[in-house]
Amino acid sequence: MSRLDSFIRRLEAQRACIDRAVALAAPLPGPVIEVGLGNGRTYDHLRDRARGREIFAFDRHVAAHPACVPDAAHLLLGDFRATLAQAASALGGKIAICHADIGSGDEAASQALGAEIAPLIDALMAPGGIIVGDQVMRAARWEELPLPPGIEPGRYFIRRVRA
Ligand SMILES: C[S@@+](CC[C@H](N)C(=O)[O-])C[C@H]1O[C@@H](n2cnc3c(N)ncnc32)[C@H](O)[C@@H]1O
Repeated sequence: MSRLDSFIRRLEAQRACIDRAVALAAPLPGPVIEVGLGNGRTYDHLRDRARGREIFAFDRHVAAHPACVPDAAHLLLGDFRATLAQAASALGGKIAICHADIGSGDEAASQALGAEIAPLIDALMAPGGIIVGDQVMRAARWEELPLPPGIEPGRYFIRRVRA
């Protein structure tokens, strides 16, 4: 598969899995967290699909398109390991949807980061909340959910916090 094909499939998987997460979380009140604001593409998609929900975005720096930068109250800058832990006092147990797109070119480092931040994300999630993302992440109260049709296993992941 060419790198272009692979990139397109990744974006299709992201969109399909985010849309599925929004649908699954529909009955649940609560904000969204975007872990990895990056260019702001998926933040913008979440803003469109999860209308009416507050969205808090995390990244170490702002590199997003100017139209996709959250206001200061919804932007948590710094290392995920610090900012996710700090967010627990205000957001602990309240998050309905987490989208975690944290991968870099270094696969081993991305996997290690995913394992490190999974418990920090877990602490923010409401019972029944949906976690969607690009890394293998586990927590005792999460169950793996099937992917939307056509999405290759291992490319993206959807989990639900057992209620
Ligand atoms: C793949 S990009 C996110 C792309 C974004 N979802 C989009 O659609 O534009 C991953 C982001 O995670 C951020 N990141 C990676 N490791 C981080 C860490 N330990 N702490 C904070 N931010 C980190 C990077 O700065 C990068 O912007």
